[in-house]
Amino acid sequence: MTRIQLTVDGARVADDVEPRMLLVQYLRERLGKTGTVVGCDTSNCGACTVHLDGTSVKSCNVLAVQADGCEVTTIEGLAPEGGLHPVQEAFRECHGLQCGFCTPGMVMQSAALLKENPSPSEEEIRLGLEGNLCRCTGYHNIVRAVQQAAGASTGSSSDATSQEQEVTA
Ligand code: FES
Ligand code: FES
Repeated sequence: MTRIQLTVDGARVADDVEPRMLLVQYLRERLGKTGTVVGCDTSNCGACTVHLDGTSVKSCNVLAVQADGCEVTTIEGLAPEGGLHPVQEAFRECHGLQCGFCTPGMVMQSAALLKENPSPSEEEIRLGLEGNLCRCTGYHNIVRAVQQAAGASTGSSSDATSQEQEVTA
């Protein structure tokens, strides 16, 4: 077991984990962050996308121990409490989802994309989302949603309430 300390959605966490445990497993199985989903076992779909120190990563492709000392934001911590992040609001307004399975990853990737490039072209949006797959093939409205969110504030959830959380093995 390896001791890790990190911040997840504004809460500080200390835990002992198997070195082989994936970050997505840690988030879902140890912290109950089931908003981050697993859509494949090949690192292809992007459904598990979270922000690691502000950069989007596929959390099935990162070990929990690699997040030691980092700040992780999941779909559950993206928006201020009680509200929607501008990207979530745009997905809702543009009907940027069908079954919704890809949506957490799409929203997290879109938010990271807009943070880097607040005014992307349609081509830049499609390129920025190429690592995220929608099995309902709802890409058109997803791109529209990102276009709508462009220009709005896309900062991540630094407003999330900080709290100490000790999780023991
Ligand atoms: Fe991580 Fe598919 S579950 S890329
Ligand atoms: Fe169903 Fe994208 S909305 S997978």
